[in-house]
Amino acid sequence: MNTVAIVGGGVIGGGWAARFALMGWNVRIFDPDPESERKIGAVMANARRTLPMLYDTPMPTCGTVTYHATIAEAVQGARWVQESVPERLSLKASTFAEIAANVGPDALVGSSTSGFKPSQLQENLGSLAARLMVAHPFNPVYLLPLVELVPSARNTAEHIDAAKEILVSIGMYPLHVRAEIDAHIADRLLESVWREALWLVKDGIATTEEIDNSIRYGFGLRWAQMGLFETYRVAGGEAGMKHFMAQFGPCLHWPWSRLTDVPDFTNDLVDLIAGQSDAQSGHASIRDLEVLRDDNLVALMRALKQQGAAAGKLLIDHENSLRMPLADTVPLITQSRIVPVDWTDVNGHMNEGRYGQVFSDASEELMAHIGADRAYVTAGHSYFTAETTIRYLAETLAGEAFTVATRVTLGEGKKIRLFHEMRRAADAEILATCDQFLLHVSLESRRSCPPLPQVAARLEALAQAHRD
Ligand SMILES: NC(=O)c1ccc[n+]([C@@H]2O[C@H](COP(=O)([O-])OP(=O)(O)OC[C@H]3O[C@@H](n4cnc5c(N)ncnc54)[C@H](O)[C@@H]3O)[C@@H](O)[C@H]2O)c1
Repeated sequence: MNTVAIVGGGVIGGGWAARFALMGWNVRIFDPDPESERKIGAVMANARRTLPMLYDTPMPTCGTVTYHATIAEAVQGARWVQESVPERLSLKASTFAEIAANVGPDALVGSSTSGFKPSQLQENLGSLAARLMVAHPFNPVYLLPLVELVPSARNTAEHIDAAKEILVSIGMYPLHVRAEIDAHIADRLLESVWREALWLVKDGIATTEEIDNSIRYGFGLRWAQMGLFETYRVAGGEAGMKHFMAQFGPCLHWPWSRLTDVPDFTNDLVDLIAGQSDAQSGHASIRDLEVLRDDNLVALMRALKQQGAAAGKLLIDHENSLRMPLADTVPLITQSRIVPVDWTDVNGHMNEGRYGQVFSDASEELMAHIGADRAYVTAGHSYFTAETTIRYLAETLAGEAFTVATRVTLGEGKKIRLFHEMRRAADAEILATCDQFLLHVSLESRRSCPPLPQVAARLEALAQAHRD
């Protein structure tokens, strides 16, 4: 297993720890706060509930998480070190000096800094400088894939590529920021929106809630899947991007916005914003809001995954990299996963239609196992389900881990009969069973026909093993 050291385990360090651990890395943490284990435990609990919901495949075995009294101890054996201490340059400098004195010669080091440039962080670090880059993530780090990877002229292409490879392997999207600038790319965009929002509140034009509504009911939804430029391209209609710029370009000179003008953070403005925010969201605890945020993110990202778009496309690619062939056990374990939030009814139980999905996914795994995979279907052969009988035996809730064990009860000629047992992972209770009858068909004639010999042989061998 790979090892990561997390130096600074607050909101961001805790999120990194959770993502690495759930992606199978051993995690070694240093944070001087005596409360850090409890705080990171809370982030880990959120992550453990939601991150696996994004995936339809088994997750890697979770790594161990250990706490250490010094940086020197935490970085032992680390392949990656992620610094997430408070945003003060002197503190970052002393932290990196200690990391440099103790880390192995091949380890790569990422800094979560929101604003500093990598060359500011690389000063006086000797050979570590070439292996240190900004790796700026977004909260919650365990769900959002973006990480701005900002190297300086001191980093070699080899180190940059190695860093990208590690970040991709834990399901992230490393956006290579090619020129180092203060606050990278995304925080610059966010800062201009934030500045404008402060003016709107200060000038009494809109409340915090009205501003949030202007984002979440409109352009926020567009941004999540197309970003800024692609959205505007579409807005330009058939005439396209040039037309859009001709139409809206002149107003940048009027200007509509307050640009670099910054409102003073007077006590009155702070009280106004905090008061409006309390009225808007004070009824919910931060924990409640985190759960709401995470569940909504999971549902949005799963919807994008279904469309193969934006962050959803990334999830599909990462999931494919995690996919392993089924182990040849009797019965076959065809599903091992977590019930995602978008599979449940208002009462929090898994919707009955989703059991059909679970068993259909299970039989698809079995099909791939006997060679009736995507290539086989593309070549014109497939199995169609002719009959399904599901028995619902116990409640299944969002966030519960489950497995499906599948037996081939008939595998002769064009016929397959499968018996699936879905069990809760925590206590092995049977949640549902499914008896399924499938027929092999030619996609050309749309009629039943025998499978190709290699699939027939594999199926018969499996049926024999399961009968025995
Ligand atoms: N909060 C965000 O949304 C966000 C997003 C991206 C990046 N960042 C960046 O991540 C970094 C951390 O921010 P945060 O929001 O997690 O802050 P935080 O205050 O939640 O966490 C900082 C942690 O560092 C610990 N710490 C203090 N001194 C330390 C030391 N000498 N060695 C090790 N740990 C020490 C603190 O105990 C605390 O747990 C900052 O550089 C920030 O700019 C923050």
